[in-house]
Amino acid sequence: MNPKADSQRMDKIVSLCKRRGFIFQSSEIYGGLNGAWDYGPLGVELKRNLKNYWWRVMVHEREDVVGMDGAILTHPEVLTASGHVDGFSDPLIDCRSCKAHLRLDQLIEKKGIKQCPNCGGRDLTEARQFNLMFETHVGAAADEGSIAYLRPETAQSIFVQFKNILEVSRKKLPFGIAQIGKAFRNEINPRNFTFRSREFEQMELEYFCRAGEGMKWLEYWKEERLKFYENIGIARDKLHVLTVPDEERAFYSKGTYDIEYEFPFGRQELEGVAYRTDYDLSQHQRASGKSLEYFDEETKQRFVPHVVEPSAGVDRTVLAVICEAYAEDEAPDEKGKMETRIVLRFHPRMAPIKCAVFPLLKNKEPLVAKAKEIVDLLRPHMYVFYDESGAIGRRYRRQDEIGTPFGVTVDFETLGEKDAALRDTVTLRERDSMKQDRVAIKDFPSILISRIR
Ligand code: GAP
Repeated sequence: MNPKADSQRMDKIVSLCKRRGFIFQSSEIYGGLNGAWDYGPLGVELKRNLKNYWWRVMVHEREDVVGMDGAILTHPEVLTASGHVDGFSDPLIDCRSCKAHLRLDQLIEKKGIKQCPNCGGRDLTEARQFNLMFETHVGAAADEGSIAYLRPETAQSIFVQFKNILEVSRKKLPFGIAQIGKAFRNEINPRNFTFRSREFEQMELEYFCRAGEGMKWLEYWKEERLKFYENIGIARDKLHVLTVPDEERAFYSKGTYDIEYEFPFGRQELEGVAYRTDYDLSQHQRASGKSLEYFDEETKQRFVPHVVEPSAGVDRTVLAVICEAYAEDEAPDEKGKMETRIVLRFHPRMAPIKCAVFPLLKNKEPLVAKAKEIVDLLRPHMYVFYDESGAIGRRYRRQDEIGTPFGVTVDFETLGEKDAALRDTVTLRERDSMKQDRVAIKDFPSILISRIR
């Protein structure tokens, strides 16, 4: 790793994200809200493609998983029972010199003395626990009795709805409940672009099983999740599995893996896959006084199921997908001279725009009409973009920079003016190889559909 090159690469990625409308600082015109991000027109497409693909493979393509969508506002007793009210905190330290608020693990140490990473100051307060949950009040009275929390993870609403969902779905063990949604943590130091945010989204599965099978399902889900990342275009050699050591695991967990990705700012967690035993359901059963047991019809036994949880961050995965896709190579300009090309090599299933459609010239009505016909042909199947302005090479380049995998040009051959055999064919250009093929318009939707799914 070359730290300078990696930091420059990250700067280029952040700047591209803003310039092309992937990700903006939230409330930017008012100076920005730290730890919150807004996704622009292309970012929202990328994020949706990711969430839709996760939902497809984790819910729709499986017999044993159903979905839910829980509320963000959470009853304090839920989060007391889960341990968040008392224990969801980070050790906080203040630097008395520059007034920075720091997490204990962010301090630097020189000659055995802890220092502030911002100013090098050594006048630091003792560490105190800082709870990461956002507290709010529900209703008109802002008193002790009206406290609610913005959920710090989506998982708890799954545990709390376990019984209802078991009854309505009539699933047998092992089975899972999946959810995608917002979570909120008042992180002491949000950083690394969207990597550590205060508002973010999670994609979580709680997979319920019998006690004796937890370790088996932990291995199974670790492998499934690795496959998932490969299927969205992340190279296997950039993914790492960290076995979380006993002393760092939550006390109730019998095994946890972190799936990490080599971001330009270092190897960092994308997802945790944890065997949480029967801790959560047992806690809620005890605190609510309501049975959360499963009745096994074959053995006639009642018991609280165990759970294995693959929990991924949407924003972190979007960032990993962008970091993985970002590349610079060489391509000829209008005059054939080689120049640097910025290209996002997204997997076609992740790419925000799947295909760009260009008439060769914008002032030739038959070319424009044909190009618009193609747009109409593709639109029911995918997000397409029509562009008639500027030289064709420049139009390709604009699409390369936002990762559009396919470009189609309607030219005079499409109209059959040069060779009748080429009527109703177009050139299909691939972003990565820049190779161009002649394809019949009628074959074209099916070719693209099979590649973007
Ligand atoms: N239910 C388990 C749970 O929430 P976690 O490891 O705290 O476990 C799971 O969070 C995932 O959520 C992380 O792997 C990460 O992808 C994402 N995540 C957690 N905190 C985040 C933050 N502050 N900003 C962005 N993503 C975050």
